[in-house]
Amino acid sequence: MKILVTGGAGFIGGNYVLTMVKKHPEDEYVVLDALTYAGNLETLKDVAGEPNFRFVKGDIRDRELIDGLFAEEQFDVVINFAAETHVDRSVEDPGIFVTTNIIGMQNLMDACRKYNTGRFHQVSTDEVYGDLPLDRPDLLFREDTPIHTSSPYSASKAGADLLALAYHRTFGLPVTISRCSNNYGPYHFPEKLIPLMISRALADESLPVYGNGANVRDWLYVTDHCNAIDMIIRRGRVGEVYNIGGHNEKTNLEVVKTILKALDKPESLIHFVKDRPGHDLRYAMDPTKIETELGWKPEYTFDTGIQKTIEWYLNNREWWENIISGDYQNYYERMYRDRQ
Ligand code: NAD
Ligand code: TYD
Repeated sequence: MKILVTGGAGFIGGNYVLTMVKKHPEDEYVVLDALTYAGNLETLKDVAGEPNFRFVKGDIRDRELIDGLFAEEQFDVVINFAAETHVDRSVEDPGIFVTTNIIGMQNLMDACRKYNTGRFHQVSTDEVYGDLPLDRPDLLFREDTPIHTSSPYSASKAGADLLALAYHRTFGLPVTISRCSNNYGPYHFPEKLIPLMISRALADESLPVYGNGANVRDWLYVTDHCNAIDMIIRRGRVGEVYNIGGHNEKTNLEVVKTILKALDKPESLIHFVKDRPGHDLRYAMDPTKIETELGWKPEYTFDTGIQKTIEWYLNNREWWENIISGDYQNYYERMYRDRQ
């Protein structure tokens, strides 16, 4: 199979490519990535010389470029990881979330229609379901939970999901969608909770916890997500949505304290700051469908995954220290200045 992976220089797409190029030498992987602030070619250096890997720099919002690439390559499968992904940035500047996450994705689906691509897989998120109350641990997101979004980020992802299902129903486009809970692991950009806290704790800097730190996220180690997507593109049913999650609910404060303990740093580094506007309270996934239908099972618990992640950040300082400079430093100042 020839597989187009958009956003393959980002966190999850990068882990997907690093794993699958080696796992499936019989398949060809073409990565298309605009290399925004979140994309990093360094992430892909381990597969750069593989015969079944090719990188193309380009923007999914560029219809002409997309058309040319599809004409040239004749893909069997497209997996769309490319997106603007940070909720806080979407609060600051929603526009690019709409153009990349919805219009860029529509360009890809139009190309799939024109070139008869066998599968378009949209990588979506649990955030399209909105949030759950903190005092109802019995409630979980299922695939038929109504879409109900809180942030411009989640609204743009929900828009893309609805468009994908509409293209399936109206044009018969062979679409699948996966909605995963919060990922963590290697190559995670240090603006997101876990890598931000690891990198700041290592520098003995204060750890900005929003509100009272009681918000809950359902954490999944990134390669477990990648394996689930690999199963869906091979054996998933067209027109279906699959939830992915490993029942690893933690409050943000629990996550931060776990990191501090593992790094032998004091809890006095924790600094409660002004809450995120519209902050979702709790996410929790019911992954029964993918478990029973495709036999997917996560390999990592939160305990094993977080240890592996912390070790990776300790052993790969160069990767993230290069990022924490220049523009990103300015971003940190801008985002956190008013939260003190
Ligand atoms: P990321 O921000 O780390 O990477 C996004 C990648 O997309 C980057 O390499 C960036 O350069 C590229 N990109 C952005 N705009 C582009 C454009 N216009 N054209 C081409 N490339 C572009 O994101 P991530 O955390 O790896 O997330 C990947 C996907 O998974 C996203 O669709 C996200 O919504 C979804 N998701 C993420 C999580 C999570 O916890 N991180 C959970 C569930 C779903
Ligand atoms: P994040 O990693 O941005 O993922 P998402 O908002 O998509 O779930 O944030 C995870 C949780 O951590 C979320 O509840 C917000 C919180 N958070 C903080 O408390 N402090 C921070 O500096 C960041 C970035 C996030």
